[in-house]
Amino acid sequence: MLRSRRRPAPTPLPYHMFDRARFGLEARDARTLERIYHKSQERSWDGQEVLRALIERHGAPHVDAARRPALARLFAVIMWGELAAWKVSAALADELEPFEAKLAATSQAFDEARHFYVMHDYLELLGAMPERLDRAIERLLSQVMNANHLAKKLIGMQLMVEPVALSIFHVVRTLDIEPVLTGLMPYYQRDEARHVALGLKYLPAMIRQMSTRERASLISFQLRLLTSELWGSVGLMRDYKALGIDPRDAVEVGRAKQKKALDLLICEMGITSKVPIELLDRYSGALMEVLLPFDDVPWRERLRRSVRAAAWGKQPIDDALADEIETPAA
Ligand SMILES: [Fe+2]
Ligand SMILES: [Fe+2]
Repeated sequence: MLRSRRRPAPTPLPYHMFDRARFGLEARDARTLERIYHKSQERSWDGQEVLRALIERHGAPHVDAARRPALARLFAVIMWGELAAWKVSAALADELEPFEAKLAATSQAFDEARHFYVMHDYLELLGAMPERLDRAIERLLSQVMNANHLAKKLIGMQLMVEPVALSIFHVVRTLDIEPVLTGLMPYYQRDEARHVALGLKYLPAMIRQMSTRERASLISFQLRLLTSELWGSVGLMRDYKALGIDPRDAVEVGRAKQKKALDLLICEMGITSKVPIELLDRYSGALMEVLLPFDDVPWRERLRRSVRAAAWGKQPIDDALADEIETPAA
Protein backbone atom coordinates (compact mmCIF):
# COMPACT_ATOMS: atom_id res chain seq x y z
CA MET A 1 0.00 0.00 0.00
CA LEU A 2 1.26 3.44 -0.85
CA ARG A 3 1.94 5.66 2.14
CA SER A 4 0.59 9.15 1.92
CA ARG A 5 3.37 11.72 1.86
CA ARG A 6 3.06 15.27 2.98
CA ARG A 7 3.36 17.51 -0.07
CA PRO A 8 5.98 20.26 0.04
CA ALA A 9 4.56 23.78 0.16
CA PRO A 10 4.12 25.11 -3.40
CA THR A 11 6.78 27.64 -4.38
CA PRO A 12 5.49 30.73 -6.16
CA LEU A 13 7.11 31.96 -9.36
CA PRO A 14 9.92 34.35 -8.38
CA TYR A 15 8.75 37.41 -10.31
CA HIS A 16 11.27 39.47 -8.33
CA MET A 17 14.28 37.44 -9.56
CA PHE A 18 15.50 40.30 -11.80
CA ASP A 19 15.39 42.84 -8.97
CA ARG A 20 19.11 42.90 -8.13
CA ALA A 21 18.77 45.68 -5.54
CA ARG A 22 16.47 43.46 -3.46
CA PHE A 23 19.33 40.91 -3.16
CA GLY A 24 22.05 43.54 -2.72
CA LEU A 25 23.70 42.29 -5.91
CA GLU A 26 25.83 44.82 -7.83
CA ALA A 27 25.27 45.03 -11.61
CA ARG A 28 28.93 44.19 -12.26
CA ASP A 29 28.79 41.03 -10.11
CA ALA A 30 25.51 40.00 -11.71
CA ARG A 31 27.13 40.28 -15.16
CA THR A 32 30.04 38.10 -14.01
CA LEU A 33 27.66 35.46 -12.65
CA GLU A 34 25.78 35.42 -15.93
CA ARG A 35 29.05 35.02 -17.81
CA ILE A 36 29.96 31.99 -15.67
CA TYR A 37 26.97 30.21 -17.20
CA HIS A 38 27.84 31.14 -20.78
CA LYS A 39 31.54 30.35 -20.30
CA SER A 40 30.55 26.97 -18.94
CA GLN A 41 28.54 26.33 -22.12
CA GLU A 42 31.43 27.42 -24.37
CA ARG A 43 34.02 25.36 -22.50
CA SER A 44 31.89 22.31 -21.87
CA TRP A 45 33.73 19.09 -22.70
CA ASP A 46 32.39 15.70 -23.60
CA GLY A 47 33.47 13.46 -20.70
CA GLN A 48 33.06 10.19 -22.61
CA GLU A 49 35.00 11.53 -25.59
CA VAL A 50 37.85 12.97 -23.50
CA LEU A 51 38.24 9.71 -21.54
CA ARG A 52 38.17 7.66 -24.77
CA ALA A 53 40.83 9.89 -26.41
CA LEU A 54 43.11 9.69 -23.35
CA ILE A 55 42.85 5.89 -23.32
CA GLU A 56 43.63 5.78 -27.05
CA ARG A 57 46.76 7.84 -26.41
CA HIS A 58 48.03 6.19 -23.21
CA GLY A 59 46.39 2.77 -23.16
CA ALA A 60 43.96 1.42 -20.54
CA PRO A 61 44.49 2.93 -17.07
CA HIS A 62 46.86 0.88 -14.97
CA VAL A 63 48.40 1.27 -11.54
CA ASP A 64 50.43 -1.47 -9.85
CA ALA A 65 48.47 -3.56 -7.35
CA ALA A 66 50.46 -2.18 -4.39
CA ARG A 67 49.38 1.43 -5.01
CA ARG A 68 45.90 0.81 -6.42
CA PRO A 69 43.98 0.66 -3.08
CA ALA A 70 45.56 3.98 -1.99
CA LEU A 71 44.63 5.66 -5.28
CA ALA A 72 41.10 4.21 -4.99
CA ARG A 73 40.65 5.66 -1.49
CA LEU A 74 42.03 9.07 -2.47
CA PHE A 75 39.82 9.27 -5.55
CA ALA A 76 36.82 7.98 -3.64
CA VAL A 77 36.99 11.41 -2.00
CA ILE A 78 36.89 13.04 -5.43
CA MET A 79 34.12 10.83 -6.82
CA TRP A 80 31.76 11.19 -3.84
CA GLY A 81 32.84 14.81 -3.44
CA GLU A 82 31.68 15.39 -7.04
CA LEU A 83 28.30 13.89 -6.17
CA ALA A 84 28.07 16.15 -3.11
CA ALA A 85 28.98 19.14 -5.31
CA TRP A 86 26.33 18.06 -7.83
CA LYS A 87 23.67 17.86 -5.11
CA VAL A 88 24.68 21.19 -3.54
CA SER A 89 24.82 23.03 -6.88
CA ALA A 90 21.44 21.56 -7.90
CA ALA A 91 20.00 22.80 -4.57
CA LEU A 92 21.56 26.23 -5.18
CA ALA A 93 20.18 26.30 -8.74
CA ASP A 94 16.74 25.62 -7.31
CA GLU A 95 16.87 27.88 -4.26
CA LEU A 96 19.02 30.89 -5.18
CA GLU A 97 16.64 33.63 -6.25
CA PRO A 98 18.59 36.17 -8.35
CA PHE A 99 18.45 35.22 -12.02
CA GLU A 100 22.22 35.47 -12.65
CA ALA A 101 23.19 33.42 -9.56
CA LYS A 102 20.64 30.78 -10.53
CA LEU A 103 22.20 30.58 -14.01
CA ALA A 104 25.72 30.16 -12.58
CA ALA A 105 24.60 27.42 -10.16
CA THR A 106 22.75 25.62 -12.95
CA SER A 107 25.88 25.46 -15.09
CA GLN A 108 27.83 24.16 -12.11
CA ALA A 109 25.33 21.33 -11.57
CA PHE A 110 25.86 20.35 -15.22
CA ASP A 111 29.69 20.36 -14.76
CA GLU A 112 29.55 18.36 -11.51
CA ALA A 113 27.36 15.66 -13.09
CA ARG A 114 30.05 15.26 -15.78
CA HIS A 115 32.85 15.22 -13.18
CA PHE A 116 31.01 12.51 -11.26
CA TYR A 117 30.36 10.13 -14.16
CA VAL A 118 33.85 10.57 -15.67
CA MET A 119 35.50 9.75 -12.32
CA HIS A 120 33.16 6.80 -11.84
CA ASP A 121 33.94 5.42 -15.34
CA TYR A 122 37.67 5.98 -14.83
CA LEU A 123 37.81 4.21 -11.47
CA GLU A 124 35.76 1.33 -12.85
CA LEU A 125 38.20 0.93 -15.77
CA LEU A 126 41.10 1.01 -13.33
CA GLY A 127 39.45 -1.72 -11.23
CA ALA A 128 39.56 0.62 -8.25
CA MET A 129 35.92 1.41 -7.48
CA PRO A 130 35.92 2.71 -3.93
CA GLU A 131 33.57 1.20 -1.38
CA ARG A 132 32.98 3.98 1.09
CA LEU A 133 34.61 7.08 2.42
CA ASP A 134 36.65 7.72 5.49
CA ARG A 135 34.21 8.85 8.23
CA ALA A 136 35.66 12.35 8.71
CA ILE A 137 35.34 13.11 5.00
CA GLU A 138 31.86 11.62 4.90
CA ARG A 139 30.96 13.94 7.79
CA LEU A 140 32.49 16.94 5.98
CA LEU A 141 30.46 16.35 2.81
CA SER A 142 27.32 15.69 4.81
CA GLN A 143 27.83 18.94 6.81
CA VAL A 144 27.91 20.89 3.54
CA MET A 145 25.07 19.00 1.81
CA ASN A 146 22.76 19.35 4.81
CA ALA A 147 23.72 22.86 5.91
CA ASN A 148 20.73 24.87 7.16
CA HIS A 149 21.53 28.06 5.23
CA LEU A 150 22.34 28.64 1.55
CA ALA A 151 25.35 30.79 2.52
CA LYS A 152 26.79 27.80 4.42
CA LYS A 153 26.31 25.57 1.38
CA LEU A 154 27.96 28.18 -0.82
CA ILE A 155 30.93 28.92 1.41
CA GLY A 156 31.28 25.25 2.35
CA MET A 157 31.28 23.87 -1.17
CA GLN A 158 32.75 26.69 -3.28
CA LEU A 159 35.37 28.09 -0.91
CA MET A 160 36.21 25.25 1.51
CA VAL A 161 35.69 21.94 -0.36
CA GLU A 162 36.48 22.96 -3.98
CA PRO A 163 39.96 24.27 -3.03
CA VAL A 164 40.70 20.94 -1.31
CA ALA A 165 39.63 19.03 -4.45
CA LEU A 166 41.89 21.38 -6.45
CA SER A 167 44.78 20.54 -4.12
CA ILE A 168 44.32 16.78 -4.70
CA PHE A 169 44.28 17.41 -8.48
CA HIS A 170 47.40 19.55 -8.10
CA VAL A 171 49.49 16.93 -6.25
CA VAL A 172 48.28 13.99 -8.34
CA ARG A 173 48.99 15.88 -11.56
CA THR A 174 52.44 16.90 -10.35
CA LEU A 175 53.37 13.31 -9.50
CA ASP A 176 51.93 11.89 -12.74
CA ILE A 177 50.79 8.69 -11.00
CA GLU A 178 48.76 7.43 -13.96
CA PRO A 179 48.77 9.16 -17.40
CA VAL A 180 45.02 8.95 -18.12
CA LEU A 181 44.25 10.45 -14.71
CA THR A 182 46.91 13.13 -15.21
CA GLY A 183 45.31 13.93 -18.59
CA LEU A 184 41.88 14.35 -16.96
CA MET A 185 43.03 16.71 -14.21
CA PRO A 186 43.32 19.94 -16.28
CA TYR A 187 39.69 19.55 -17.41
CA TYR A 188 38.55 19.26 -13.78
CA GLN A 189 40.83 22.06 -12.57
CA ARG A 190 39.51 24.49 -15.20
CA ASP A 191 35.87 23.86 -14.25
CA GLU A 192 36.48 23.91 -10.48
CA ALA A 193 38.24 27.27 -10.62
CA ARG A 194 35.07 28.66 -12.29
CA HIS A 195 32.94 27.24 -9.48
CA VAL A 196 34.95 29.08 -6.85
CA ALA A 197 33.93 32.26 -8.73
CA LEU A 198 30.22 31.69 -7.99
CA GLY A 199 31.01 31.82 -4.26
CA LEU A 200 33.17 34.91 -4.66
CA LYS A 201 30.59 36.88 -6.63
CA TYR A 202 27.38 36.02 -4.82
CA LEU A 203 28.41 35.38 -1.20
CA PRO A 204 29.28 39.02 -0.39
CA ALA A 205 25.72 40.13 -1.23
CA MET A 206 24.30 37.25 0.75
CA ILE A 207 26.49 37.85 3.82
CA ARG A 208 25.69 41.57 3.82
CA GLN A 209 22.00 40.70 4.24
CA MET A 210 22.62 38.26 7.14
CA SER A 211 22.01 39.09 10.81
CA THR A 212 24.94 39.15 13.28
CA ARG A 213 23.72 35.85 14.70
CA GLU A 214 23.67 34.24 11.24
CA ARG A 215 27.20 35.54 10.55
CA ALA A 216 28.47 34.09 13.83
CA SER A 217 26.86 30.78 12.94
CA LEU A 218 28.57 30.91 9.51
CA ILE A 219 32.01 31.37 11.13
CA SER A 220 31.47 28.50 13.58
CA PHE A 221 30.34 26.37 10.61
CA GLN A 222 33.64 27.15 8.84
CA LEU A 223 35.60 26.13 11.94
CA ARG A 224 33.73 22.82 12.05
CA LEU A 225 34.45 22.24 8.36
CA LEU A 226 38.15 22.98 8.85
CA THR A 227 38.25 20.47 11.71
CA SER A 228 36.56 17.77 9.60
CA GLU A 229 38.92 18.52 6.70
CA LEU A 230 42.02 18.07 8.84
CA TRP A 231 40.67 14.87 10.39
CA GLY A 232 39.92 13.74 6.82
CA SER A 233 43.58 14.35 5.90
CA VAL A 234 44.61 12.20 8.88
CA GLY A 235 42.40 9.41 7.48
CA LEU A 236 44.15 9.73 4.11
CA MET A 237 47.69 10.01 5.52
CA ARG A 238 48.56 6.35 4.85
CA ASP A 239 47.25 6.62 1.26
CA TYR A 240 49.13 9.83 0.52
CA LYS A 241 52.35 8.21 1.73
CA ALA A 242 51.72 5.03 -0.32
CA LEU A 243 51.49 7.25 -3.43
CA GLY A 244 54.68 9.13 -2.59
CA ILE A 245 52.85 12.29 -1.49
CA ASP A 246 53.82 14.04 1.74
CA PRO A 247 50.45 14.57 3.55
CA ARG A 248 51.68 17.90 4.93
CA ASP A 249 52.46 19.09 1.39
CA ALA A 250 48.95 18.14 0.25
CA VAL A 251 47.41 19.99 3.21
CA GLU A 252 49.64 23.02 2.57
CA VAL A 253 48.43 23.22 -1.04
CA GLY A 254 44.81 23.04 0.21
CA ARG A 255 45.50 25.71 2.85
CA ALA A 256 47.02 28.03 0.25
CA LYS A 257 44.03 27.69 -2.07
CA GLN A 258 41.48 28.06 0.72
CA LYS A 259 43.25 31.09 2.13
CA LYS A 260 43.40 32.76 -1.29
CA ALA A 261 39.66 32.07 -1.88
CA LEU A 262 38.73 33.52 1.53
CA ASP A 263 41.10 36.49 1.03
CA LEU A 264 39.39 37.28 -2.28
CA LEU A 265 35.98 36.93 -0.62
CA ILE A 266 36.66 39.50 2.10
CA CYS A 267 38.29 41.74 -0.49
CA GLU A 268 35.07 41.52 -2.59
CA MET A 269 33.19 42.57 0.55
CA GLY A 270 35.38 45.64 0.91
CA ILE A 271 36.82 44.44 4.24
CA THR A 272 40.44 45.46 4.69
CA SER A 273 41.08 43.69 8.01
CA LYS A 274 42.84 40.33 7.67
CA VAL A 275 41.80 39.28 11.19
CA PRO A 276 39.00 36.81 10.23
CA ILE A 277 41.22 34.96 7.73
CA GLU A 278 44.20 35.06 10.10
CA LEU A 279 42.10 33.47 12.87
CA LEU A 280 40.90 30.65 10.62
CA ASP A 281 44.42 30.12 9.31
CA ARG A 282 45.96 30.00 12.79
CA TYR A 283 43.29 27.57 13.92
CA SER A 284 43.99 25.19 11.01
CA GLY A 285 47.78 25.67 11.43
CA ALA A 286 47.61 24.78 15.15
CA LEU A 287 45.42 21.75 14.49
CA MET A 288 47.72 20.62 11.68
CA GLU A 289 50.75 20.54 14.01
CA VAL A 290 48.87 18.18 16.34
CA LEU A 291 47.12 15.97 13.79
CA LEU A 292 49.65 15.89 10.94
CA PRO A 293 53.08 16.29 12.55
CA PHE A 294 56.39 15.71 10.81
CA ASP A 295 57.42 12.04 11.20
CA ASP A 296 58.63 10.98 14.64
CA VAL A 297 57.87 14.27 16.37
CA PRO A 298 56.99 13.46 20.01
CA TRP A 299 53.71 14.64 21.52
CA ARG A 300 55.26 17.34 23.70
CA GLU A 301 56.94 18.91 20.65
CA ARG A 302 53.72 18.65 18.63
CA LEU A 303 51.88 20.62 21.31
CA ARG A 304 54.64 23.21 21.50
CA ARG A 305 54.52 23.75 17.71
CA SER A 306 50.72 23.88 17.82
CA VAL A 307 50.71 26.61 20.50
CA ARG A 308 53.33 28.52 18.50
CA ALA A 309 51.20 28.28 15.31
CA ALA A 310 48.13 29.51 17.24
CA ALA A 311 50.03 32.42 18.80
CA TRP A 312 52.18 33.56 15.87
CA GLY A 313 50.68 31.91 12.80
CA LYS A 314 52.50 29.48 10.58
CA GLN A 315 55.17 30.15 8.00
CA PRO A 316 53.81 32.04 4.99
CA ILE A 317 52.09 29.90 2.42
CA ASP A 318 53.42 30.02 -1.11
CA ASP A 319 50.82 32.08 -3.01
CA ALA A 320 51.90 30.47 -6.29
CA LEU A 321 50.15 27.28 -5.09
CA ALA A 322 46.82 29.05 -5.53
CA ASP A 323 47.41 30.55 -8.99
CA GLU A 324 44.17 29.33 -10.53
CA ILE A 325 42.01 30.92 -7.83
CA GLU A 326 41.28 34.44 -8.94
CA THR A 327 38.46 36.93 -9.11
CA PRO A 328 36.77 36.49 -12.48
CA ALA A 329 36.75 39.55 -14.70
CA ALA A 330 33.42 41.37 -15.03
FE1 LIG B 1 33.56 19.03 -9.68
FE1 LIG C 1 33.00 22.08 -8.57
